[in-house]
Amino acid sequence: MRVEMKNLSKHFGRVKAVNDFSVILNDGELVCLLGPSGCGKSTVLNMLSGILPVTGGKIYFDDEDVTDLPPEQRGIGLVFQNYALYPHMTVLGNICFPLEIQGLPKAERIQRATEMAELVHMEGMLHRKPKELSGGQQQRVAIARALVKRPNLLLLDEPLSNLDARLRLEMREEIRRIQLQTKVTTIFVTHDQEEAMSISDHIVLMKDGFLQQHDDPQALYNEPANQFVADFLGNPPINNIKGAIHSGFFVAQNGDKVRLPETDGAPEGVKVHLAIRAESFMMADEGDESCLHCTVENVYQLGKEEMALLNFGDTQVRAYLSFDYGLKAGDEVTLQVRDRGVFLFDLETGRRYA
Ligand SMILES: Nc1ncnc2c1ncn2[C@@H]1O[C@H](COP(=O)(O)OP(=O)(O)OP(=O)(O)O)[C@@H](O)[C@H]1O
Ligand SMILES: [Mg+2]
Repeated sequence: MRVEMKNLSKHFGRVKAVNDFSVILNDGELVCLLGPSGCGKSTVLNMLSGILPVTGGKIYFDDEDVTDLPPEQRGIGLVFQNYALYPHMTVLGNICFPLEIQGLPKAERIQRATEMAELVHMEGMLHRKPKELSGGQQQRVAIARALVKRPNLLLLDEPLSNLDARLRLEMREEIRRIQLQTKVTTIFVTHDQEEAMSISDHIVLMKDGFLQQHDDPQALYNEPANQFVADFLGNPPINNIKGAIHSGFFVAQNGDKVRLPETDGAPEGVKVHLAIRAESFMMADEGDESCLHCTVENVYQLGKEEMALLNFGDTQVRAYLSFDYGLKAGDEVTLQVRDRGVFLFDLETGRRYA
């Protein structure tokens, strides 16, 4: 099912939780709704499900305006962080429950619930109670229970945040497998950028109730719309060096210069951040006027790679540099930046110039 949110807003008194939010999701996609705590992710989800009335704007499922439709008529499956399974019911009972409410005959209920249990790989534990399951298994049951009604839209609100790191990794891949198998349009809320990058077709990134960027994961990383997007995605985080624009160069506070590609309307003298991904440094050539003078503070071996922690003036910079240079603490290095993974943002507004 195609989902359209058009100029959606939600205000709780003076708190403007969601503002002028417009996003279209294509049928069969898995979209991650990403952003820091309090940015309005759950509020968006709750408006889609109908639990919260909207303050303004419209919601369309395919071409139908569902803005004022009650939750039970929206055909949505919901999964929350705290699995919310019924403790006195078995796995099978829990998965069957939504169909019981719908008044389906018992044989059909059991058949559909068993199919769902197979989909989430819980067919061997149908008669266990929730307390006899691990967190990951409970979340599998919660997903099966949400899918058994054959929803047109599956909404998952931070479904993995109660799980330990390994199980989280396993379950996010499971959710992707189940989603691809069922082809149900899915919105997955998370504040974990790596989780979002790894499983989604598209990412919707929010901040303070406003949409920042809606794109595929690589585009968010490679072409961030503003400073916030650049900072939010990537591990290690992007390096930001303060300076100003002069005659086609970025000029840092110590006078070091970096030649710029075409900038998009950056005025002469404007204060900016030169933002550089850790993988976008290389050693400068002898006599290159476009370079940054840094001092090595430390070098880390990261499995197959080496990462240098450097000081550029009082700014710490992280850079992937080859083992071959044999860098060690105290070394002076002169770095150049690559074309890719280097951006220019207005220091005050975060607007992107290049
Ligand atoms: N019922 C409510 N009454 C008043 N303010 C609310 C209510 N629900 C949410 N808010 C506020 O709206 C904003 C967005 O909240 P929301 O729960 O959507 O954030 P979130 O992105 O889901 O955060 P988290 O990652 O912590 O779950 C927050 O500032 C929150 O305090
Ligand atoms: Mg939330």
